[in-house]
Amino acid sequence: MQQIISLLSIFAVAAHAATYDLPPLPFGLSALKPMISKNTLQIHHGKHHAKYVDTLNSLVAGTHLENQPLETIIKESYKSNKSIFNNAAQAWNHSFYWQCMKAKGGGTPDESSHKQLCDKINASFGSYANFRKQFAEAANTAFGSGWAWLVSDRKGNLSVTKTIGAENPMVASGRLIPILTCDVWEHAYYLDYANLRPTYVDTFLEKLVNWEFVAENLERAMDSGRNWSC
Ligand SMILES: *[C@@H]1O[C@H](CO)[C@@H](O)[C@H](O)[C@H]1NC(C)=O
Ligand SMILES: *[C@@H]1O[C@H](CO)[C@@H](O)[C@H](O)[C@H]1NC(C)=O
Ligand SMILES: *[C@@H]1O[C@H](CO)[C@@H](O)[C@H](O)[C@H]1NC(C)=O
Ligand SMILES: *[C@@H]1O[C@H](CO)[C@@H](O)[C@H](O)[C@H]1NC(C)=O
Ligand SMILES: [Fe+2]
Repeated sequence: MQQIISLLSIFAVAAHAATYDLPPLPFGLSALKPMISKNTLQIHHGKHHAKYVDTLNSLVAGTHLENQPLETIIKESYKSNKSIFNNAAQAWNHSFYWQCMKAKGGGTPDESSHKQLCDKINASFGSYANFRKQFAEAANTAFGSGWAWLVSDRKGNLSVTKTIGAENPMVASGRLIPILTCDVWEHAYYLDYANLRPTYVDTFLEKLVNWEFVAENLERAMDSGRNWSC
């Protein structure tokens, strides 16, 4: 009995010792239907995202990066260890991507509740329509597997960028802060849209974007004293 208990406590410790835990989805598996199916979320979150997290944890175990915050691992591994970087960045970006969506999201951000965001979109792109066009173009032309991003500098000047594979604008630029992303790897949309990536991207923009989250990210980006994490 004693042995069983100590064995159990070892497992309990091991279960809590992971450097980064897979965060649960911020919505139910069926919440984004029919735009994104339960099947896609199960595989995308439960298999792909989980695999990046597991691989990251096993790669950093026993190194100086073990138990470091994910942002630290991303920045420290960027130059020194591509496989740690790729898995850490993919873990981060997926956690961020889930938060960028919600049921009944998308469309133009509401001016009365998100005045600052609407102002900055207008100031940076001229109009929401122009932002939308640029974002969709980035998402649709990211070759192969990649991500489209809306990023902000410390003054709230917004721009659209795309990254291929597991690159990340946080690392690429050093100073641009991601406020919205769309995962355009095939695993994000293929089961629901087959090869029609532009339809998935339009649906993301029209029906899924969680503007509350984007507006909070913009505030944090402009609040230069504050650090933040996913
Ligand atoms: C990256 O880190 C892993 C885990 O410590 C190690 O096995 C691998 O050899 C490292 N690769 C490089 C290029 O340093
Ligand atoms: C943004 O521009 C549109 C016209 O393009 C205008 O209707 C809207 O009021 C502007 N929003 C803000 C917050 O200035
Ligand atoms: C805003 O960002 C874009 C893209 O990075 C840049 O080209 C432009 O000069 C910036 N504008 C201001 C006012 O900082
Ligand atoms: C994930 O996003 C962060 C923030 O933009 C970025 O620094 C990192 O490089 C991204 N990772 C990947 C794999 O794209
Ligand atoms: Fe993905």
